[in-house]
Amino acid sequence: MKVFLNKRIPEIGIKLLEEAGVEVIIPENENLSKEEWLSYCKNTDAILNVGVHSFDKDFFEQCPNVKAIALYSVGFDHVDVKAATHKSIPIGNTPDVLSKATSDVAFLLMQSVARRASYNYQKVKDGNWGDFDPLHALGQELYGKTLGIFGLGRIGFEMAKKSSKAFDMNIIYHNRHRNEEAEKELDAKYVSFEELIERSDVLSIHANFKPENKDLFNGSVFKNMKPNAIFINTARGGFHHQNDLYEALVSREIWGAGLDVTNPEPIVKDDPILELSSVCVLPHIGSATVEARNGMAKLAAENIIAFSKGERMPHCVNPDIYSGN
Ligand code: DGY
Repeated sequence: MKVFLNKRIPEIGIKLLEEAGVEVIIPENENLSKEEWLSYCKNTDAILNVGVHSFDKDFFEQCPNVKAIALYSVGFDHVDVKAATHKSIPIGNTPDVLSKATSDVAFLLMQSVARRASYNYQKVKDGNWGDFDPLHALGQELYGKTLGIFGLGRIGFEMAKKSSKAFDMNIIYHNRHRNEEAEKELDAKYVSFEELIERSDVLSIHANFKPENKDLFNGSVFKNMKPNAIFINTARGGFHHQNDLYEALVSREIWGAGLDVTNPEPIVKDDPILELSSVCVLPHIGSATVEARNGMAKLAAENIIAFSKGERMPHCVNPDIYSGN
């Protein structure tokens, strides 16, 4: 069986695939145009995909040979899962192994924004260390404050746990389902979306992105947040309306923002939000640790290997396709 891997992943994944007898096709030039990428896809049985290529209805029509897709990501918002399911194509993802690393970035951004780290670092780089000033560049402390989590799954749970232990923060959350483990272990309180917005000192997004959530965090939401609120997005840029966020920051409706994902992504160099001292932006590095990336390589390879043996993918986002088996 042939699998097309559009970008090299950690060796552990490639080795597992080769040991299982899977032929791995990796292009010499990894910066493929859309057409080149598509022509590789047309000639393969399965895809191990790195990045956000869109697997929409058209894709499945154009690539009838593709029988399985293993994503090198936990997020699957770039896949039309319904169309894949319709064609009985399993879609694999990489849950759990990146929850700690991604929540670490949310935690890092929360502190960076609270203490204006990127602004202060820029001052040092610009040669503006400055004199000790009792009133300049003051941050805010997080002790005992309220962390609101939008989407309390695995990553949200890790963020809540760290924040509760490090800063004794109170955890409130809004989710499709109650998270009993978080309620028990962290005394997390389930609240309505409106209450989450109004009560959070830090609001952090950890939900799966769905098209109906596009721009959910917009001007009318920011208006209802606390003036000291810090907005953190490490999930998907589509959740927030970036211009409204900029306006909310400039007009001090909220205090600051930490983004590992932007809207659009990548952010353009002259986006005015990058000029604000209350903002810290990272280039989507949530899972960028050796440990997480190795774990993702292993899970993605395991998904492909299971498929090659005619077995269920162990981490499948559309397990319904197996229900007839
Ligand atoms: C994920 O795994 O979904 C990360 O955001 C990388 O895309």
